[in-house]
Amino acid sequence: RPVLASTREELAKLLADARAGDTRVAFVPTMGALHEGHASLMRVARERVGAGPVVVSIFVNPMQFGPTEDLDRYPRTLDADLEVCGREGVDVVFAPSVEEVYPHGLSTGSTSDPSRGVTIEPGALATVLEGETRPGHFAGVLTVVAKLFGLVQPDVAVFGQKDYQQLALIRRMVEDLCMPVEVVGAETVREPDGLAMSSRNRYLDPEQRRVAATLSRALRAAQDRASYGVPAARWAAMSVLKAEPGLELDYLALTSPDLGEAPETGEGRILVAARVGTTRLIDNMPITFE
Ligand code: PAJ
Repeated sequence: RPVLASTREELAKLLADARAGDTRVAFVPTMGALHEGHASLMRVARERVGAGPVVVSIFVNPMQFGPTEDLDRYPRTLDADLEVCGREGVDVVFAPSVEEVYPHGLSTGSTSDPSRGVTIEPGALATVLEGETRPGHFAGVLTVVAKLFGLVQPDVAVFGQKDYQQLALIRRMVEDLCMPVEVVGAETVREPDGLAMSSRNRYLDPEQRRVAATLSRALRAAQDRASYGVPAARWAAMSVLKAEPGLELDYLALTSPDLGEAPETGEGRILVAARVGTTRLIDNMPITFE
């Protein structure tokens, strides 16, 4: 089993020991309710640092949840999570309280109150796609990731492509603020029917679970049609999505790899968000236009 730290001091002590040799430290930030997608990030982290310590954080970050979102019912499964980390050979699990991470209180919805401490204000990329329905979400993500980077001081940090916009914004923050961390983006892990694994999948009942697989089917349909260009690919995905009445589409976006305008030819990205019942699901895939 990995060693569990719940305070900054415990973490610092554990890392000082682990860092004693000339090793690199790898870090996988999570909100827990760990599944095979998270486990794959731990394996990528291990590959990157060899014998060096792998640190996983488990922290349901209140700052990235909107007032009507699922903060209170977000699954918390620490015992099972420690099992997963143990199986993957994780060295240190950092599972702090909210007070430990935000000693000056929370900054949800506000970055203008200095008594609440410093927050990270993301740029324009945070206002599109996920940012449009989740105002303040990425400010919360970047702020907690910056704090966790400060606490863990990793050489390498691994994030999933599943949250593609999050990954892009973290890369941008690291570049803009000259943070000495190498950011690695790992492939999305899927269920056998193509559904991207997510901690939120456990909210789905069996019928909703069936409907949820439509998202990845739509993205695949677009990939198959991409040689005919962007409009044809979009149409292919839309017709799959529209055929499923149990799905409430939020957006379907075809973009460049850095989430700009889709190119006429070459590499791009296709991203989708939809609600199934009250559960919001996202997915994305690479797509090549010819
Ligand atoms: P969480 O949703 O727990 O995800 C933690 C990491 O696991 C993220 O980098 C996410 O992209 C990755 N991940 C989730 N599902 C995946 C899948 N099916 N395949 C591969 N990787 C997957 O993302 C967050 O937490 C938070 O926003 C966090 C970055 C921890 C900041 O609070």
